[in-house]
Amino acid sequence: ELVILAYSGGLDTSCILKWLIQKNYDVVCYMADIGQDEDFEKAKQKARSIGAKDVIVEDLREEFIKNYMLPGVQMGLVYESRYYLGTSLARPCISVGIVKAAKKLKAKYISHGATGKGNDQVRFELSVYSLWPEGKVIAPWRLPEFFERFQGRSDLIEYAKKENIPVSATPKEPWSTDENIMHISYESGVLEDPAAIPPAKIYKMTRDLQQTEDYPCVIDINFEKGLPVSVQIPSNQEKALVITNVVAMVETLNKLGGQHGVGRIDIVENRFLGLKSRGLYETPAGTILHVAHLDLEAYALDREVQRIKKYLQDKMADFVYNGFWFSPEANYTRKCLEQSQDIVNGTVTVQIFKGNVTILARKSSKSLYNQELVSMDVSGGFSPEDSTGFININALRLKEYARFLKQSELN
Ligand code: ARG
Ligand code: SIN
Repeated sequence: ELVILAYSGGLDTSCILKWLIQKNYDVVCYMADIGQDEDFEKAKQKARSIGAKDVIVEDLREEFIKNYMLPGVQMGLVYESRYYLGTSLARPCISVGIVKAAKKLKAKYISHGATGKGNDQVRFELSVYSLWPEGKVIAPWRLPEFFERFQGRSDLIEYAKKENIPVSATPKEPWSTDENIMHISYESGVLEDPAAIPPAKIYKMTRDLQQTEDYPCVIDINFEKGLPVSVQIPSNQEKALVITNVVAMVETLNKLGGQHGVGRIDIVENRFLGLKSRGLYETPAGTILHVAHLDLEAYALDREVQRIKKYLQDKMADFVYNGFWFSPEANYTRKCLEQSQDIVNGTVTVQIFKGNVTILARKSSKSLYNQELVSMDVSGGFSPEDSTGFININALRLKEYARFLKQSELN
């Protein structure tokens, strides 16, 4: 029987690959290139040497940015007020790729190396079952015969040595990383104690603030229907560089954001299974885009729509975090959120400097902002007496409340 294994090239999935083969499965490895720093040729060779029937490497960077990362910005997806969901958004994207491969090769199973305590197993499997209801998943880390045999890293290393699986000579960093073009996350190992300050030099995409540039960088970010479509660097100059390719746009913002130390967080979050976990994230381009988008939205959107959208985007962030990207509730919520974005068009000028993203200006050809109406200098068709009535009516309730408080005091 054929299994498609989501392969990372690391120790865990290499051991899983061998273990599946020893259980008499035919295994094809699937690797999605979503912008992680990885030597795919080396990983391919490694998988083949272990016994994989084939190794598929697919470049999903553009698909990930277009269909997941930028919609995440457009919808304003932030989990528990801080996490931009870089890992959560990547999982449905990878699932689409691996399910396509499984169907094409007429495989019966998909397998992965996510652990039994995490979010990724849920995201991965819920996505796979949505896209391929007849599919079956093998999750070794949840099978007693696997997890009882491999209780720690040392068991895996011992097995690898015995089975001639190449083990990297450099000792593994004492934490786990998940990397793509949107972010890098760091969890577990020495990071598990939330009271412990993370080791210096853990971060890879962003510089420490002591090492950032001494001059700010000013960028124009252009949005159409709430989606970032191009950036101009530096802002407002004849010979500025205009980038419209989304991959290049994200790469450039990552580079500049990284140079200025933008987008690091260290948080404790609630995993879907109910446990709390401590994680570090760096999301340079994502942070710049989210901050700019929020500003343009405030400028363009109706007040009440803004408030309903805030509610829906929090719901949607939970759906995505919990692995329900392909659910009916996510489809419905997404449509609503997207509709709110029809009028979010224009340009935001941001300055990035010393870890901050500051808004310098915004413009839009159409917006609800009416300079004449709000101006202190012109009347703009507004009669000030109306505000007297507005305040009186609103004060009515407050005066009644004051009377009530006074009465209660007397009793
Ligand atoms: N806690 C983050 C999330 O749930 C990051 C998970 C990292 N995944 C990993 N396989 N290292 O989205
Ligand atoms: C894992 O458990 O495989 C990584 C962490 C997570 O999925 O939340």
